[in-house]
Amino acid sequence: MQVLAESLSPEATYRLMSGIVVPRPIAWITTLSPEGVINLAPFSCFTFVSNKPPLLGINIGRKAGVRKDTGANIHATKEFVVNIGDATQLDAIHMSSVEHPPEVSEADILGLDTAPSVSIRTPRLADAPVSMECRLERVIEFGETGAEFIVGEVLAFHLRDGLYRDGKVETRELNPVCRIGGPNYASLGEIVTLRAVAQTPKSVMNKDG
Ligand SMILES: Cc1cc2nc3c(=O)[nH]c(=O)nc-3n(C[C@H](O)[C@H](O)[C@H](O)COP(=O)(O)O)c2cc1C
Repeated sequence: MQVLAESLSPEATYRLMSGIVVPRPIAWITTLSPEGVINLAPFSCFTFVSNKPPLLGINIGRKAGVRKDTGANIHATKEFVVNIGDATQLDAIHMSSVEHPPEVSEADILGLDTAPSVSIRTPRLADAPVSMECRLERVIEFGETGAEFIVGEVLAFHLRDGLYRDGKVETRELNPVCRIGGPNYASLGEIVTLRAVAQTPKSVMNKDG
């Protein structure tokens, strides 16, 4: 079967692409409003962009043409925290997507504790296995719906004790959760380990190539 992209509405395209680009990790983002309210919402159009400096990217859409609270807060404060929830927190991750007005804190409503960050004012989720404090690096607008690809530089990583050993994250203990299409999620299944393939170091930049 073939589908011509131009025949699809924005909604149908969203359903198709979010069913194809799977599984997606979930950035569980805390932001601070200019009035000091801690906002929390999940975003699965989320990826890692660069390792030096460490950059993360999240695509944030609009609701009825208006910036979501997360996007508006990032524009105002130039900072945010990407928390990574685990499978035990799935209900809270899902329910934090409920649309509340900006003066309502989803973290409060869900009874989630926050803790101070070390390099930014925006708090992190105290019980998330991982939190990454980010300073806004750039915003790139794409397409006709006003979606913004928000890139943040990670200034500090917080990892639950025991999760980071010998320079590696213990994935089983992280117990991550991912989004597939619609309100469907998956947790880690079988881990298959293959022989490592030698790679040229990534840290050296050849300016000509
Ligand atoms: C698991 C999950 C992933 C989501 N991923 C995205 C996303 O990548 N981009 C986006 O704009 N909205 C995404 N949403 C919807 C937002 O979470 C939702 O619009 C939320 O109300 C935004 O909250 P805010 O206005 O407090 O920022 C996702 C929702 C769920 C449940």
